[in-house]
Amino acid sequence: MARFRIAVIPGDGIGPEVINSTRHVLDAVGQKFNHDFKYEELLAGGIAIDTTGEPLPASTLETCKNSDALLLGAVGGPQWDTLPGHMRPEKALLGLRSGLGLYANLRPAILYPPLASACPLHPATASRGIDMVFVRELTGGIYFGDRGRREGKNGPEAYDTETYSVMEIERIARMGFELARSRRKKLTSVDKANILESSRLWREIIIKLHAEYPDVALDHLYVDNASMQLILRPDSFDVVVTSNMFGDILSDEAAMITGSIGMLPSASLGQPGCPGMYEPIHGSAPDIAGQDKANPLATILSGAMMLRLAFGLPTEADAVEQAVNQVLSAGYRTVDIMDKSGSADGLKLVGTREMSNLVAAAISKGAQ
Ligand code: IPM
Ligand code: MG
Repeated sequence: MARFRIAVIPGDGIGPEVINSTRHVLDAVGQKFNHDFKYEELLAGGIAIDTTGEPLPASTLETCKNSDALLLGAVGGPQWDTLPGHMRPEKALLGLRSGLGLYANLRPAILYPPLASACPLHPATASRGIDMVFVRELTGGIYFGDRGRREGKNGPEAYDTETYSVMEIERIARMGFELARSRRKKLTSVDKANILESSRLWREIIIKLHAEYPDVALDHLYVDNASMQLILRPDSFDVVVTSNMFGDILSDEAAMITGSIGMLPSASLGQPGCPGMYEPIHGSAPDIAGQDKANPLATILSGAMMLRLAFGLPTEADAVEQAVNQVLSAGYRTVDIMDKSGSADGLKLVGTREMSNLVAAAISKGAQ
């Protein structure tokens, strides 16, 4: 029996609910395929501030470093919004990303056919399908650049800085090219090279590396144009490589066009051999926390990415993804993915717990 140590950070808001759901589904995978998943629950985010006085206790980071993978729910909430920047729950996420060296954030955006009617785009656009992966740089750029307050010529001012080194661009570009090579062999690099010097360096390096990947078709889009093309022709995207900030914004847009932000998983990866972090791209949704309303599928699908990428278990990952598809095809929906046209014909509204029970049951029943 293979044994895997998973560091689990439930976090705040709906985090604990979607994590419970995912543990339930992983346990079904463990039973079916004979694996032993050992969970260690850790504090980070707002709950860690309340309990220990800091968003990311050193012991949490240490335990994560010694695990095979990290599964995270969500952090943040209005009660911590007025704290200074270095004490906010979000600081825990940034600390985990930089502390574990997780420079590449993979965010697949797929429109599941049964959810076509939850897609807010024109039906003709939705019917052409959406299947893309964002490769977002995660430990550089404006998120980690020099920032502060100072006295400017018009009085007090604040600044944040976007900086990218050749090394940082090269390693994320390689991740993009390699991923594109394993898929439809198309890479779109998103930048703002008409204005930003850091984007001009970004584009230069991408073009230089392209020589090593002649089998991959490369194009470049300015970020404003990219946000438009995502709505107009989402089927034209395969792999998208971009900076930390642009990836943050565009991946939320990509999430919405696939029906709901409650559907998008992510994997944050570093050097080979270092544990990766698997989390939904949505936040802590404090408005629905504790009400059994949250969609657990983004976290469950993040669990599938963990099985595939961290543990090398593609069959098990496929089983989870197929189970999700099966449950959606049978008409089960959490409230966020109900039909946008308002017709709920044949659809069955379920809560967080029931959705995960259905996925777990589909795994247990599924062919091995
Ligand atoms: C995300 C989130 C985070 C980010 C926040 C919560 C710090 O929006 O993972 O996309 O901006 O990276
Ligand atoms: Mg975001």
